Amino acid sequence: MYGDLDRPPLRPLALARALAPDGWRLEVLPETGSTNAVVLERAARGEAAGLVVVAESQTAGRGRLDRTWVSPPRAGLTFSVLLRPDLPPARWGWVPLWGGLAVARALRERTGVDAVVKWPNDVLVGGRKVCGLLASASDGALVLGIGLNVTTRADELPQDRPATSLLLEGATTTDRDTVLRAVLRSLGATLAAADADAYRAGCSTVGQRVRVELPDGAVEGTATGVDDDGRLLVEGVPYGAGDVVHLRSAS
Ligand code: BTN
Repeated sequence: MYGDLDRPPLRPLALARALAPDGWRLEVLPETGSTNAVVLERAARGEAAGLVVVAESQTAGRGRLDRTWVSPPRAGLTFSVLLRPDLPPARWGWVPLWGGLAVARALRERTGVDAVVKWPNDVLVGGRKVCGLLASASDGALVLGIGLNVTTRADELPQDRPATSLLLEGATTTDRDTVLRAVLRSLGATLAAADADAYRAGCSTVGQRVRVELPDGAVEGTATGVDDDGRLLVEGVPYGAGDVVHLRSAS
């Protein structure tokens, strides 16, 4: 059993002070259902961009494609940020993609793991998922939820698909305050740059053989790029949704 010594709580006051100069307003909740739901509600009440709500424990964490996000208390980082992107609505789809890129960059730079983005916005290390992002938009607000496995043990990870944690990947730090600061700093910089080509260059899916699983079947082929709307091109055909599986290359 992991206790406070192995999985210490975040230090909200020190964190909030460190993040404020970059425009982030941090709130740490001991427990909530889903941080995305909390931030969506605050957005609906007119809260300004920059709010970050972190939960030490989520009881109803949500994932993409109607999945759940499960993480033992304090084993990971589960948080949501409130954005009000100053972009034409057609470009909003890029924000979660840049979010994944920002997390991958922060993990590489601050924890030394070889993190890459899988389209659209999963972050993988060694082909296993270490982080997932969930975007929810409503009335001029975009809530970006981030779930990152930090000290999660193998037996605590989802067993239905390959997953990992920073601890399992030999990260140089698993201090959650440090990792949260690095991710939010990277997120600010990556969103400010709004660089579609940087995402294309960093997306490990491009060039891979993939299977796109759709509600009415699956498509296999080589991922050839990401179009201007952020959709994955497979043999030149755009896919905006669906679950993507990286297949082994035939060669
Ligand atoms: C996915 O990979 O399917 C996305 C997972 C997103 C999980 C995070 S944890 C913080 C935020 N609150 C939620 O309920 N979900 C996101």
